[in-house]
Amino acid sequence: MIRTPLTQRLGLKHPIIQAPMALAAGGKLAAAVDSAGGLGLIGGGYGQSDWLEDQFRAAGNNAVGCGFISWSLAEHRDLLDKALGHDPKAVMLSFGDIAPFAGKIKARNIPLIAQVQTVWEALAALDQGADIIIAQGAEGGGQGLKRATFTLVPEIADNIYRLGSQAILCAAGGIADGRGLAAALGLGADGVLVGTRFWAATEALVHPNMQDAAIRATGDQTIRSTVMDMARQRDWPEGFTARVLANDFIDKWHGREAELAEKIDIIIPQYQKAWEAGDIDMANVFVGEATGLIADIQPAAEIIASMVEQAEKIIRKQQGFIQ
Ligand SMILES: Cc1cc2nc3c(=O)[nH]c(=O)nc-3n(C[C@H](O)[C@H](O)[C@H](O)COP(=O)(O)O)c2cc1C
Repeated sequence: MIRTPLTQRLGLKHPIIQAPMALAAGGKLAAAVDSAGGLGLIGGGYGQSDWLEDQFRAAGNNAVGCGFISWSLAEHRDLLDKALGHDPKAVMLSFGDIAPFAGKIKARNIPLIAQVQTVWEALAALDQGADIIIAQGAEGGGQGLKRATFTLVPEIADNIYRLGSQAILCAAGGIADGRGLAAALGLGADGVLVGTRFWAATEALVHPNMQDAAIRATGDQTIRSTVMDMARQRDWPEGFTARVLANDFIDKWHGREAELAEKIDIIIPQYQKAWEAGDIDMANVFVGEATGLIADIQPAAEIIASMVEQAEKIIRKQQGFIQ
């Protein structure tokens, strides 16, 4: 057992949070993570209210939480009320200003998790009373910014310590096994938030062609880009990019965004069709560099068990280094 302030504060068995990946992390995945002793979060996504209700139902009696993309939530404020109506175990906010929502979550005594990509944003989230800060590095899958996990985590840890804050810190970005978990604890985190590895879980809502491609890929084959979000009509704020597997679509359009914008009306339906069909040459597989560490699609419970077992072995081995 690895006990940290995260496991103690949230009553978890393991210091592992499953990322609220839009439309991929549904109630079944979050429930499986909860049953296995981690914190499972439904990916609140981009305003799909019916989907969110279905996923809370799919989670059954498991104590799961929910995550939202802050800039998108600002356009669909009712979603937060809907989620709070399910008495979530925690609410996570990422990508944008959390101030409009933090008070409402805190007033309900629900742990507020803020995922940040910079030190400045971590300080702002602490100001808003975030209970848990997720320091997300650019190795990660899906949206993010530029800082790498290896320096962002200890720098934010230093700031939490300097301020005398009781906030808990988790690392995200590139963590897919026990080596990543042990390393994150070494960097000053109290736990980890894991996306890509759980995206490749049996319970995730992902097309099998995409999961197959992720298993075959190396981390070298990933790239951060914006062209997929142009094709998916996701209007991300300036500066954000997403990490995906490079494919024909990236080869054709990455770096030619102005031209893509001119042809976007033709591309949007083509991309949507490819996404639904699992056509991985046109639609993108949203995974991080950790894709190169994944060899199998496994149930979430097995992923968690092997991650913890490997981390424990590493930590014991490291203790033996001390003379
Ligand atoms: C397919 C996918 C979708 C994601 N969607 C979201 C999302 O909707 N909201 C969010 O806060 N983070 C999202 N993320 C980012 C994760 O929260 C997390 O930062 C990231 O997955 C960590 O890096 P890793 O993929 O190497 O584990 C997504 C990640 C992936 C892989």
